[in-house]
Amino acid sequence: MTILVTGGAGFIGGNFVLDWLAGQNETIINLDALTYAGNLDTLHAAQTDSRHTFIHGNIGDRVLVERLLTEHQPRAVINFAAESHVDRSIHGPGDFIQTNIAGTFNMLESVRGYWNGLDAKYRTAFRLLHVSTDEVYGTLSPEDPPFTETNRYEPNSPYSASKAASDHLVRAWHHTYGLPVLTTNCSNNYGPYHFPEKLIPLVILNALASKPLPIYGDGQQVRDWLYVKDHCSAIRRVLEAGKLGETYNIGGWNEKTNLDVVKTICAILDELKPRADGASYAAQITFVQDRPGHDRRYAIDAGKLKRELDWKPTETFDSGIRKTVQWYLDNPQWVDNITSGHYRDWIRQQYG
Ligand code: NAD
Ligand code: TYD
Repeated sequence: MTILVTGGAGFIGGNFVLDWLAGQNETIINLDALTYAGNLDTLHAAQTDSRHTFIHGNIGDRVLVERLLTEHQPRAVINFAAESHVDRSIHGPGDFIQTNIAGTFNMLESVRGYWNGLDAKYRTAFRLLHVSTDEVYGTLSPEDPPFTETNRYEPNSPYSASKAASDHLVRAWHHTYGLPVLTTNCSNNYGPYHFPEKLIPLVILNALASKPLPIYGDGQQVRDWLYVKDHCSAIRRVLEAGKLGETYNIGGWNEKTNLDVVKTICAILDELKPRADGASYAAQITFVQDRPGHDRRYAIDAGKLKRELDWKPTETFDSGIRKTVQWYLDNPQWVDNITSGHYRDWIRQQYG
């Protein structure tokens, strides 16, 4: 059996591929466009595994995707591919519309054609799992209950609006064409191989490089953090047992303010790699201008996943963040390649 993963050279997709190869004996076709966020270094261990085939390409390329589907006959497609960074979506929303909306549309059409042509047995077993975000639900005030699957979609950033649009397309392809889809909406992830444009890896690496730790606004925005390997296990569980056409919220029950997250990272670094001058890394915290339209609070109620599919996260924030900081300390090569931009050299050499 085979699965097709898109965006598997990114942060979550990369972790998913590595965990999949470690845990199951099933081949993976990994389609990734290798944007700035795609990093083949993350897949180092997978590249020598005969069960993993990497394909450089775009989810919007119907000829390519249709060829891959016909050739490899996957039993499932898991769509991680996306433009994922809110700040970039504010500066340049075009790529988000292209990949997250038009790309998802094209992929749905390719998958629909493939699925329609399958024999009855394989048609029934086939799944398309679309990976999405809690940001589609908009923002919460401090006293609001966490997001459930029935919350209204109220996306506020170009990123979340493009993901919301992709979720609606996936839903419509199920209701109109019967495509066997599952959608997951997850809270903020953190863990190994996270690109240092996002808060947690940025703070770890800036701290170690004696740079300022930039906190937007007052730092009291709240995010619900989930260790990436827990996200991967939830996706495997939904793929295995999720009800067709349903959406599942995935979260860590770990609401933290940004300032608390940054202070926790500083405290762990103070312990594991103290500054030469003996001062705390917290001295590097710098308040900077807020993000336009910054959502104040996200929080996920993952009760449906617990009740119906018996899934819960294994890491607390304290255990997960410690593992994460340690991972960045233990992997200077991966970090150097990404901060120097050398991870792009291989892409240029190999793919032009
Ligand atoms: P990422 O930016 O680290 O990785 C995205 C990957 O997709 C990259 O490898 C990139 O090269 C690839 N890609 C981009 N455009 C493509 C295209 N047109 N065709 C093929 N590949 C393309 O993102 P991530 O953090 O790993 O997020 C993965 C998915 O999970 C996204 O759909 C995102 O919306 C969702 N998500 C992320 C988080 C989070 O906290 N990071 C939380 C919830 C949901
Ligand atoms: P981010 O990691 O970009 O994820 P998202 O915007 O998808 O939640 O940001 C997490 C939170 O951290 C968010 O409230 C914005 C804030 N933030 C900062 O305060 N400083 C930074 O330099 C970055 C990148 C984010």
